Amino acid sequence: MKKIVNILFLLLLIFNNPYAYSNGEDLYNHHCSACHGINGDGGVGIPLSLPTFLDRASDEYLTKTIELGRPGRVMPAFSGIGESGITSIVNYIRSWSKKAAPVYEVSRINGDREAGKKLYLEHCVSCHGKEGSGGKGTGVTFSRSRALSIIAPSLGNEGFLTSASDHMIKDVIKQGRKGTPMMSFANKGLTDKQINNIVSYIRSLEDKKRVSHPDVLPPLLVYESEASIEETLAAIKKAIVGSNFRVIRVQRFDDGYVEKGKGDDKKIIIYFCNFNMLYSALAIDPRVGLFLPCRITLIEKNGKVKLMSINPATMSKKFNNDELLKLCDEMTSLYESIMEEATL
Ligand code: HEC
Ligand code: HEC
Repeated sequence: MKKIVNILFLLLLIFNNPYAYSNGEDLYNHHCSACHGINGDGGVGIPLSLPTFLDRASDEYLTKTIELGRPGRVMPAFSGIGESGITSIVNYIRSWSKKAAPVYEVSRINGDREAGKKLYLEHCVSCHGKEGSGGKGTGVTFSRSRALSIIAPSLGNEGFLTSASDHMIKDVIKQGRKGTPMMSFANKGLTDKQINNIVSYIRSLEDKKRVSHPDVLPPLLVYESEASIEETLAAIKKAIVGSNFRVIRVQRFDDGYVEKGKGDDKKIIIYFCNFNMLYSALAIDPRVGLFLPCRITLIEKNGKVKLMSINPATMSKKFNNDELLKLCDEMTSLYESIMEEATL
């Protein structure tokens, strides 16, 4: 029980109530500093206090970025903070700069997309990925490429494209962001016209159909077995070993809370693991540790045995990370096949 309370508390800390904080600094420290650094000096998330960032990021861009996040990337959406909360955060971030916020023309830049694509493949793809998919990894230390201290953002991302105007994108490409790997392409000799072509190509990525993740997934996987709890447990063990996993331990719910031997045999948890998978999962995102090692709960009631586990695919959706999502989809299939096999 204590463990469950601890886990609930941890979840509460992670997805906690945003309304408890009111001013921009508190809100920033609470929601953003873990990734972007206490004073915006960067971390998992890119630095926000650099003059070359703030001189080029309009208030509208900041506001929309916070509101929409970068779906499928690590940057979460914060629409739950509310409009006034987001405005306070933007004002706080702005206070790191002595200059006024830039304002951009809203008009579209009409360049030659095809020519822009060629330039993109030549100058940008090595960092920003195919079709602007972004640098690989989460930016979390384990997965970040050592060659790039700051992960290159995804440019084809709907959160980015909805937030950034064409003229802002152009400005960033021209001037770069000194203090980050993003160099100035005006200095590299690209002409205004060439940069316009690249902007049009980046804008065209918006048309691409993005992977969408079905929204309603059950939080728990539940199966029923006609066999007794002992037989079901034996069948689960067999299925676990058959999937190249190892049983770590089996315990009753109340082990440790009641006298030895007095535990309830009709409520059991089985823990199992595959160390290769565990390490690769942790390398993708350490937050996966919240639901590893794998476990299945068995409860016998009225002669029926229920098998339950959390659904990793549902959990991982909270984390806004495509790689983690893929891994957790695989974990869900694995749970399903183990539980199906055990209840046949
Ligand atoms: C050496 C790697 C590298 C190359 C090459 C590169 N970029 Fe970047 N780019 C980055 C990084 C890293 C950032 C994030 C900088 C930061 O921390 O603010 C970035 C930021 C950007 C941004 C701002 C995105 C955002 O979310 O704010 C745009 C737009 C951009 N790059 C476009 C381009 C284009 C177009 C090219 C090619 C002409 C290019 N970049 C080439 C690494 C690179
Ligand atoms: C879990 C980590 C995480 C948290 C929390 C987070 N961010 Fe981010 N943020 C990122 C990452 C990573 C990126 C780069 C996006 C990409 O990889 O495509 C980013 C991008 C951004 C950008 C775009 C920067 C650019 O180059 O144009 C802004 C602005 C931003 N975050 C602001 C915030 C604010 C404000 C908060 C708090 C309300 C916040 N972020 C919370 C990880 C995070």
